[in-house]
Amino acid sequence: MGIGFEQMWAELQPLGRSATSGGYFRQPFDAAERECHAWFVEQAQLRGLEVGHDGNGNSVAWWRAAEHAGRPAVLTGSHLDSVLDGGAFDGPLGVVSAFGAVDLLRERGFVPSRPIAVAVFAEEEGSRFGLACLGSRLLTGQTTPDQARALRDRDGGFLLDAMSAAGLEPELGRSDLFGEVAAFVELHVEQGRDLVDRDAPVGVASAIWPHGRYRLDFTGEANHAGTTRMADRQDPMLTYAMTALAANKQARLADARATFGRVEVAPNGINAVPSRVTGWLDARAARTETLDAMVDAIGRQADDRAGRDGTRVVLTVESQSPAVDFDPVLAWRIADRLGGVPMIATGAGHDAGVLSASGVPTAMLFVRNPTGVSHSPAEHAELADCLAGVDALAATLADLAG
Ligand code: GLV
Ligand code: MN
Ligand code: MN
Repeated sequence: MGIGFEQMWAELQPLGRSATSGGYFRQPFDAAERECHAWFVEQAQLRGLEVGHDGNGNSVAWWRAAEHAGRPAVLTGSHLDSVLDGGAFDGPLGVVSAFGAVDLLRERGFVPSRPIAVAVFAEEEGSRFGLACLGSRLLTGQTTPDQARALRDRDGGFLLDAMSAAGLEPELGRSDLFGEVAAFVELHVEQGRDLVDRDAPVGVASAIWPHGRYRLDFTGEANHAGTTRMADRQDPMLTYAMTALAANKQARLADARATFGRVEVAPNGINAVPSRVTGWLDARAARTETLDAMVDAIGRQADDRAGRDGTRVVLTVESQSPAVDFDPVLAWRIADRLGGVPMIATGAGHDAGVLSASGVPTAMLFVRNPTGVSHSPAEHAELADCLAGVDALAATLADLAG
């Protein structure tokens, strides 16, 4: 039998936590994320669940019996990596709740008719190698091994080297880690306030907005901050700054989202006009046409401003995630089974979206977040709502594997 939700949560709490901000730094294949991973293996073993790994850094814990042979599994779970200075819940809540749901079902004497598997996906946030859902993309073939091999972290390190340094034996590409999957259900903390507004502890996802990551390289002329007349400058910082404002305006106009959350400046000195600014744009919208039109408009405004600043700008699409409409039959079945909980669309990306795109019937459960704040140390969910989430996940797994 396993340990309770609160004890699991308490064990994970110190791993990768910053003493200054209280936020989490669990970047893939670094020490803190590996500790979380070791915790996962320990929890699986404690419950007698057989652990498996693939060469992409993904892992699974199996609840299965001889009579399940040949039957497609019901998969649950989430990820243990975090954004830089992230919250405690984004990812781990889905893994802890999965173990909690297995415990509940066993306590109730439930006997599954097919395997139930708890998954942990690698580099869901893309916080180290830039590509979100890297583990699930590789596993399903949506990212090729060659594409993954070319990715570098901020120190210029390659994915394969990072994996090897963490003691893994990488073998990138499609994997059969889960065998055939009848359904995947990912439980996740909500990253907005829909459930607060609807006064509901738990909801079901209807869709994920299409989204993308775009790199904008602004180049100009490095020069002296004191002696270069303002009219003589070719300052890429100005072009970047105006582009950030334009992105904000375009997103507001389109009821979409646009964020520059990462910027690099060269040479990054106080007393020099920069030679280069690189900004990463994260853009999302409810519809693909809206997203494409918004990114086009931002690019045009950046070009236009570069013309006036005497600078240059190049926009590169780093990754795109198409719209996901979760299996409506599965979503309604789960929502009904849970007594008519709300259905909500989200602007956040998830491994569930990647599995859904690969043809697996997929659903998500959301647990209420009182402030809606996420990707921040302030991310939160109340214990009572987390336990309601475990209950909802257990009911869903019982329905799908009963
Ligand atoms: C993942 O959390 C994302 O939506 O960026
Ligand atoms: Mn997540
Ligand atoms: Mn996230």
